[in-house]
Amino acid sequence: MTNYLPGFANHHATEAVSGALPIGRNSPQKVPFGLYAEQLSGTAFTAPRSENRRAWLYRLRPTANHAPFTAYSGGKLVRSGPFDEVPPSPNRLRWDPLPMPAKPTDWLDGLVTYGGGGDVGAQTGVGIHLYAANRSMERAFFSSDGEMLIVPERGRLVIDTEMGRIEVAPLQIALIPRGVRFRVALPDGEARGYVCENYGALFRLPDLGPIGANGLANPRDFETPVAWFEDDDRPVQVVQKFGGGLWETQLDHSPFDVVAWHGNLAPCRYDLTRFNTINTVSFDHPDPSIFTVLTSPSDTPGTANCDFVIFPPRWMVAEDTFRPPWFHRNVMSEFMGLIQGAYDAKEGGFAPGGASLHNQMNGHGPDQASYEKAVAAELKPQKVDNTMAFMFETRLPVRPTRWASETPTAQLDYDDVWSGFAKARLPE
Ligand SMILES: [Fe+2]
Repeated sequence: MTNYLPGFANHHATEAVSGALPIGRNSPQKVPFGLYAEQLSGTAFTAPRSENRRAWLYRLRPTANHAPFTAYSGGKLVRSGPFDEVPPSPNRLRWDPLPMPAKPTDWLDGLVTYGGGGDVGAQTGVGIHLYAANRSMERAFFSSDGEMLIVPERGRLVIDTEMGRIEVAPLQIALIPRGVRFRVALPDGEARGYVCENYGALFRLPDLGPIGANGLANPRDFETPVAWFEDDDRPVQVVQKFGGGLWETQLDHSPFDVVAWHGNLAPCRYDLTRFNTINTVSFDHPDPSIFTVLTSPSDTPGTANCDFVIFPPRWMVAEDTFRPPWFHRNVMSEFMGLIQGAYDAKEGGFAPGGASLHNQMNGHGPDQASYEKAVAAELKPQKVDNTMAFMFETRLPVRPTRWASETPTAQLDYDDVWSGFAKARLPE
């Protein structure tokens, strides 16, 4: 059972062995027990204090102690920005759930990139992956290209990281900083879910404006694990994603050897059921930004590199209002997934483990069945329950990978959900 420290991007100090953490300085001449001090920088040294993220790690061996990385032969479906395998498509796309693997597949080899935007080299944009796995990892992985926001849909994950052990189940998320090595075990034997690999500015809590000091995702509900390590001198493979490619090396010891750490750059988890959902109590559906959990800003104010937005259980009480999400054309691109239940703008075809993509400026909205039901509904207070959809929303066009374009799980008839609407009737 892991202990966690509360708060988002808080400054923490934690040691798995009493006395391991230097007091009053980061890099003393002699670190307790002969541990090696190492700084992990998540922002440039010179980032303003309000943005600056870093941690100091005290470990059995320095990370620098490794042989050269060579090209990794697995992970054939992992892609990175720029996403230029196939021409960008304006079409609305939707996929059936990602099939579970038939052969033994760990989390890393179960990772499939659906698409993304931007460029890892320019440190802007996102990569969007799904995973389907049935075997625990026995090696370690990290991305030098971006932080990893992991959204389980099926099966729990035990994520051993350099800075502690995180357990997440569906309806929880994990956020692993760029560069932090981790290993995913599957206590339920299999697992499926979604990953946003954020190449841009680090995810943070959105500003609340007139909402006030509280609401949406509250900082204390984010949980960072306490220091944990293993002293294991068996050889282990370490795979890293760097510059869009995968690379591997072999260590003669476990990379999970951080005995103590302090700082404000660390993995964390969050329980989506703790999200304080805010919505209208009068009329009109607010813009879905009201459901933002985390945001990665871009250089343009208010225009996110990526927003992570959820559609949680909630009461709908709006009067004289079309209550489901309305028809929409958006300057941002919307990639959606479903963790449980059904989404209130789609009666069918959008299943847990599936996905949809509505690219910038292209019309989308409720399907015909959902529309007709909502227009005819008696507007009593209604609880939308047993549901959790989410969106990775980015200012960039999302370009699908070749795999996502050609997989048999792509629904070639998706446009049909909007084909049957009757023409509006003007007065004679
Ligand atoms: Fe939309």
